[in-house]
Amino acid sequence: MFAEKATLYDENCDFQYRMGVSLMDNDLKPKDGDCMLDLGCGTGRLATRLASKVGKRGKVVGVDPNAGRIQLARKNALHHNSKTRFVVGLVGDAASLGPYDGIFCNFVLHWVPDGSIQETLKDALDCLKPGGKLCAHIALSTGALLEAIERLVTGNDSPAVRPSHIPGQGGQDWSNMCELAGFDVSVAAEESTNPCWDNVDTCINVVRAYTDAGVTGHAIGDDDVIVLMKAHNIQSRADNVLTESKYLRLIAQKPAEV
Ligand SMILES: C[S@@+](CC[C@H](N)C(=O)[O-])C[C@H]1O[C@@H](n2cnc3c(N)ncnc32)[C@H](O)[C@@H]1O
Repeated sequence: MFAEKATLYDENCDFQYRMGVSLMDNDLKPKDGDCMLDLGCGTGRLATRLASKVGKRGKVVGVDPNAGRIQLARKNALHHNSKTRFVVGLVGDAASLGPYDGIFCNFVLHWVPDGSIQETLKDALDCLKPGGKLCAHIALSTGALLEAIERLVTGNDSPAVRPSHIPGQGGQDWSNMCELAGFDVSVAAEESTNPCWDNVDTCINVVRAYTDAGVTGHAIGDDDVIVLMKAHNIQSRADNVLTESKYLRLIAQKPAEV
């Protein structure tokens, strides 16, 4: 079951992959020889890409609490002949393989339970080298259609499978939490993008994948799809669907030693 869920994620979350590529190339800017952590690496596609940027002298570690995704990440890395190390756990579990020049964290922090965010940020700071950089994309909202599908597949706000989406939590709140943990924040930019999906069924698969409700979540029948289409003004089941996603691009540094 683990592997089945992870594969669903891998096949449906291309949009997040493309956003991750942009964060990696434009903000993290990995260099040859760097030691990097991919925090919440999922199935490891971006960690493997990161490994190709740091070269043979560098090192990439991917950490994620989801054992099925790590299993798939290890398999994919073998296939690409990549020597990325993958660890099942939280950020602290990857500390002994550091310290890191940078932490890459693509669409992860909004999944951390509200009571653990501060500790996660502090542990992330602790495993960076002085001057090391945290680059994160954090979801602020996924738009009305995807959120309606989330409510259907998770049976309404099951905290085990939904992002925290703390009401009102935006750039300033995340910035404050990072500063409280000891980071210097250089960018906390609220941005939005309009991903275009093949059709409404693709949207359902994407949500099932990112909420981890792919196997255990509620089924969505044809009647549900018709209601969704009507509510969101989608004329045909084959039509392309445009959604609006709001996210935070956050860049923070561990202060250099004085
Ligand atoms: C939306 S996926 C993003 C995966 C990957 N970063 C990417 O861009 O493809 C979010 C990932 O965060 C992981 N995650 C959830 N809580 C976490 C935590 N406390 N620490 C690290 N990763 C976590 C999940 O298991 C999941 O693989």
